[in-house]
Amino acid sequence: MATRRHVLALLASTPFAASSCAPANLPDPVAAWRSPGAGESDPRRFALAHAILAPNPHNRQPWLVDLVGDDELVLSVDLERLLPATDPYSRQIVLGCGAFLELFDLACRANNRRAEITLWPEGEPVPHLDARPVARIRLVAEQINKDALFDQILNRRTNREPYEPRPVDDAVFAEIARQTLSPLTPPTGETGDVSPPPAPAPLRIEWTASGDALDALRALAWNGFDREIRTPPAYQESVDLMRIGREEIARHRDGLVLDGPMIEFAKAVGLLNHETLADLENRVTRDGIEAFRPLAMKAPAFAWLTSRDNTRFTQVMSGRAYARFNLAATGAGLAMHPWSQTLQEYPEMADLFSQAELLTGARAGETVQMLVRAGYGPRIGPAPRRGLSEHLRG
Ligand SMILES: Cc1cc2nc3c(=O)[nH]c(=O)nc-3n(C[C@H](O)[C@H](O)[C@H](O)COP(=O)(O)O)c2cc1C
Repeated sequence: MATRRHVLALLASTPFAASSCAPANLPDPVAAWRSPGAGESDPRRFALAHAILAPNPHNRQPWLVDLVGDDELVLSVDLERLLPATDPYSRQIVLGCGAFLELFDLACRANNRRAEITLWPEGEPVPHLDARPVARIRLVAEQINKDALFDQILNRRTNREPYEPRPVDDAVFAEIARQTLSPLTPPTGETGDVSPPPAPAPLRIEWTASGDALDALRALAWNGFDREIRTPPAYQESVDLMRIGREEIARHRDGLVLDGPMIEFAKAVGLLNHETLADLENRVTRDGIEAFRPLAMKAPAFAWLTSRDNTRFTQVMSGRAYARFNLAATGAGLAMHPWSQTLQEYPEMADLFSQAELLTGARAGETVQMLVRAGYGPRIGPAPRRGLSEHLRG
């Protein structure tokens, strides 16, 4: 483990290391990635074991599931697992629900089941989420062609490592965007009575891998990161969710992972804990934040996903699209790392939010749902998951 690279730069870079050496009496934090759904006779549980591997903000995994009868289930959000400071309207949390539903759907198809998904069956909660469910789903046995993206579920990662300086061809992005969007159909089944969406909101994927536009996005990404760090409630939210060392990682199996021998050492000698991380004057913390600058400033490319509107329905569809985008990129050997700071809707970010809209060419009324760094990166291990039983109610 490099010494200069600091704890924050190691976020999720080595969680795999925790897999085989979880402290005694604590669960293996990456067990969910090994043969998900193996031996499950209930196709809902098979699909759910894949769905919990979805990308989701701050790895909160806020998914609650009620199994209903023999072939239905209801997905709700755990309101204790929101991100009120950085995601005040829970837009990103809902994207994470969309990603969950996409992986669920891919796993159903791979298992010859059609998932009839009714989004927001009791209406769309705005401006804040409430206990009303995100989706009601019924499984129907049917011969269906497996989507090739299913095969990438176990390989997909959020990769926060430095990427090679190798450029990414337009053709690679174009193919990934095609795979992402073309089969993304509206949910089958009926929509809820309140605010029924007329059709899936059109989504757009764009990218830039050269020139002034790339330079401008690099600077934007870094400035957003820096702004968030300097906004106390926003930064504290991340600090609170950092899991420092294998004991904390195994205990929580969520959040942002700081792992590896250097972390264990720094923690043991008192150089690293939640208090030092919260202190921007702390030398270790400052170095760590600085280590993120080259990730932004040397990013080989940025890509973004824009939606025509920002209804809850569209947020779910955007999350489905992001999951597909991440999976398709994985299939193409491309690493991906969201930089969401400038897309976040808290007042201290407002000027950079407007700049993000400008630089991505968002038109009036459109929402930039995701902004990601992309490039060719090293292989890394998976991020922790709490395990299916933690998501099942009743
Ligand atoms: C809506 C959304 C926003 C995200 N924003 C960020 C971000 O700003 N920075 C980051 O490092 N990761 C971001 N992520 C990635 C999550 O942190 C990641 O999915 C989670 O930690 C689980 O890791 P995994 O994707 O490797 O399974 C985001 C993911 C989603 C779905």
